[in-house]
Amino acid sequence: MKLRVSVIGTGYLGATHAACMSSMGFEVIGVDIDPTKIELLSRGKVPFYEPGLEELLQQEIASGRLTFSTDFQAIKDCDVHFICVGTPQSTNSLAADMKYVDAALDAIAPICKPGSLVVGKSTVPVGTAARLRSKLLEINPKVDLAWNPEFLREGFAVEDTLHPNRLVVGVTSDASEDKLKEIYQKNLAENTPWVRADLPTSELVKVAANSFLATKISFINAMAEVCEAAGGDVTVLAKAIGYDPRIGSRFLQAGIGFGGGCLPKDIRAFMARAGELGADQALEFLREIDSINLRARQRVIELVRKDLSDDLTGKKITVLGAAFKPDSDDVRDSPALDIAVQIAAAGALVTIHDPKAIEPAKKRFPALGFEENVESALKGADLVLHLTEWKQYRELDPVKVKSLVSSSIIIDGRNALDRETWIAAGWKFRALGRAN
Ligand code: UGA
Repeated sequence: MKLRVSVIGTGYLGATHAACMSSMGFEVIGVDIDPTKIELLSRGKVPFYEPGLEELLQQEIASGRLTFSTDFQAIKDCDVHFICVGTPQSTNSLAADMKYVDAALDAIAPICKPGSLVVGKSTVPVGTAARLRSKLLEINPKVDLAWNPEFLREGFAVEDTLHPNRLVVGVTSDASEDKLKEIYQKNLAENTPWVRADLPTSELVKVAANSFLATKISFINAMAEVCEAAGGDVTVLAKAIGYDPRIGSRFLQAGIGFGGGCLPKDIRAFMARAGELGADQALEFLREIDSINLRARQRVIELVRKDLSDDLTGKKITVLGAAFKPDSDDVRDSPALDIAVQIAAAGALVTIHDPKAIEPAKKRFPALGFEENVESALKGADLVLHLTEWKQYRELDPVKVKSLVSSSIIIDGRNALDRETWIAAGWKFRALGRAN
């Protein structure tokens, strides 16, 4: 008989994981303490924007394999329980807040059936899995705990979950590994690399990967600063170094830097944990990665000031993009929104457009100006800031946009627009890491 699966926490990770597990043929129950989320998901509605997820969710609900509940008792007959709750940054430190992970384990530990396996997927400080496993065994000795970090990217969540580029399992026994192999049999049949690790290594793989990605982005943004000072062009530099296969061209897009619910909080939590372990020196460089990243936002604001004679009061600035990256409506630690807030605080009249993230952005910053229609957003602008590289913005016609604005100055904070076409249309074109 096929394994029955529960997914605890139906946010970004959990909702996607639940729908994908169901599409792999398992009977899945998704559980969350938030009744609104469960009500929406039960009706086949995804509470955030993720390409392809809503269609998959509806298909799986219709198949009868996928259900949702707020009642933890619903998981008691399942064979594998995936913990997918969030681990946000604590309000009073750099560390991750573990209260949701602990609450999830406390809720399921007494009711898991003998022989079942609890699998952590949340991003946690190293040592958490071992701690949770001891706690679980004390309450319910016939159950085991494994760790299986998730590497999905927002915007590609379904694809990354169904076809991950590797599967990492932190286990303490062959039996637990075998159960996970049964879960991921379809991926194994596709020759997805399988890495068996111990619990701490599996936790570290996740934060190490995100730290590396953050480092790559901040590296190119540091090069952008040097290019600006030396009169070079970071986009050409990135292209040139990217041809070296040891370096690779991906994640070398210079601009306003990384944001979102993962990279920024993960590198901070990693530093905090290394400090607790007495290995803080090893991760000292991540402090610099964080500073370079935050500095990129300030550098855009400096460009704005330069173009508006250092006085933003009453200037109409159109911000294209609010999401932390395209194909997402996530505005958590969004560099675009942060810049919009800062220039508004300096007196500018800001109008923000985003194809998907206006509602979540408005919820966070109701006092800012928002406009659903991109042309209306551009009308009368003294300066345009391109801050999230949606395809829609690359397809804008600079000649047409010029007829809408009152002053044709654009700052490309993502190095994603075609500079030559904008300049040919008569725009003053600025960008990070290029001659301005
Ligand atoms: C990131 C990782 O890429 C995933 O592998 C990981 O599973 C996930 O975090 C997580 O921990 O859950 P995600 O946050 O969806 O995924 O976003 P990324 O695609 O990594 O982009 C992060 C930020 O870096 C965005 O703000 C993006 O605009 C920025 N970025 C990315 C750059 O500024 N330059 C680049 O070249 C690439």
